[in-house]
Amino acid sequence: MTVRTICCIGAGYVGGPTMAVMADRCPHIQVTLVDLNAERIAAWNDADLSKLPVYEPGLADVVARCRGRNLHFTTEVDGAIAAADMVFLSVNTPTKRRGLGAGQASDLRWIEASARQVAAQAMGHTIVVEKSTLPVRTAETIQSILSASQDSSEAESKTFSVLSNPEFLAEGTAISDLEDPDRVLIGGDDANAIDALVEIYSRWVSPERILRTNLWSSELSKLTANAFLAQRISSINAIGALCEATGADVKEVARAIGADSRLGPKFLSAGPGFGGSCFRKDILNLVYLCRHYGLEQAAHYWEQVVDLNSWQQQRIARLVVSRLFGTVSGKRLAVLGFAFKADTNDTRESPAIGICRDLLEEGAHLAIHDPKVGPDQVAADLGREAAASRLGLADEGSWQSAAGVLDAVEGADAVIVLTEWHQFAELDWTAIVARMRRPAWLFDVRGVTDAEAARAAGLRVWLVGEG
Ligand code: NAD
Ligand code: UGA
Repeated sequence: MTVRTICCIGAGYVGGPTMAVMADRCPHIQVTLVDLNAERIAAWNDADLSKLPVYEPGLADVVARCRGRNLHFTTEVDGAIAAADMVFLSVNTPTKRRGLGAGQASDLRWIEASARQVAAQAMGHTIVVEKSTLPVRTAETIQSILSASQDSSEAESKTFSVLSNPEFLAEGTAISDLEDPDRVLIGGDDANAIDALVEIYSRWVSPERILRTNLWSSELSKLTANAFLAQRISSINAIGALCEATGADVKEVARAIGADSRLGPKFLSAGPGFGGSCFRKDILNLVYLCRHYGLEQAAHYWEQVVDLNSWQQQRIARLVVSRLFGTVSGKRLAVLGFAFKADTNDTRESPAIGICRDLLEEGAHLAIHDPKVGPDQVAADLGREAAASRLGLADEGSWQSAAGVLDAVEGADAVIVLTEWHQFAELDWTAIVARMRRPAWLFDVRGVTDAEAARAAGLRVWLVGEG
């Protein structure tokens, strides 16, 4: 079967970039991204490419090449499904907030709704591809929903194959991850359907990087990859805290252990703990699955990765308060970086949210600057509006948005670096310190700044993982 038309349900951080690259590499395939969110679709269609709903280096160029040619964005879900040979499900799968498994299990309502819509609207043979990250055996649920639609007499000619094709892109490097993936994973039991998807990826991915597995291995591999990555971050943050206490330096330790080819150098940067929409939810999902299958020790093991991460985030705010003479009430603190990592406008589960909230709770006045996150997003994440002007010795904390670093540091007692934007590696500390109140502090929670230059300029410096 050769695929000529693709529909992707969910035009978010995964659906958007993934389909843009697929359309770019497969000009013979018409790719339509659909979403219920009309505002998001309008932003994908905006003539001004700086207004795309997802910021990713290189994404605007790819969209510019394909949009209107073989890449389309629409809210007309039914028509796009009906016309598609292959439908990707790339909808959100957050942690359940209520009911059975609340706080751990995945909320599959969007997956189920989109599977039902595919069941109702598809025509002929349709390959349905799970792109969202899902609990093991979700394909079974999708299969049952699709088969139920096959039972009805008017839909005799309607048939489906379900594949799992989890996405491993990281935000900030999505385009290069998609264009040059370490591997593409395809799980399924219909060889023809797998071949059809392999044929698409083969346009730009070499065959040895396209892995075929059964459905359940594919679903579980995605959760496992995220759990292992997150585990490395919790491990290095645990060691970073020990470095701070003992005089070791976490960067030196990371370099030393990363030189071991069995460990490798990546994912060993200490920081404020992992953020992003997926690590926490995917590990909690794994914990839930382990418990569901009666594997309490395995559940407990993975739970610790999340617990350590929460501890790391909480300890940063406490540490700032303690260095600033035990109180930040009424003090201006410049927060540099709000996104959960560099090169993205995404703030979901950003460590900055919890750290800023804790500092606000202590009465601080925060001046927040991020190159890609605007004040509306910060207000939504912090659950409070920006202050009209700087408050004095207020009991309650407040925050304002700062257009640039120099605005943020004006009159501040401390600079707190929470995202590793490359701009923060090149700051002019002499100019910064001249605007701050003394004694002035730098808390570099990402280890990204030129700490020596900051010290030379007269700042007191706390660096994550540095003893
Ligand atoms: P997202 O919230 O950015 O996008 C999901 C989109 O799906 C939303 O725009 C929503 O409006 C839309 N949607 C939901 N139900 C719909 C329906 N029935 N019909 C049409 N549209 C619908 O989420 P995301 O970050 O793109 O993540 C999607 C999935 O990919 C999740 O399962 C996530 O775990 C996984 N994933 C995410 C990343 C990442 O870096 N963000 C990486 C790999 C995998
Ligand atoms: C992560 C995985 O890397 C992707 O493979 C996966 O597809 C994706 O989750 C997903 O399933 O959503 P992402 O969350 O976008 O990607 O970004 P990462 O680069 O993994 O960073 C996650 C968090 O860990 C960020 O807050 C980052 O700052 C932090 N991190 C990362 C560290 O603190 N130290 C490191 O060494 C690396």
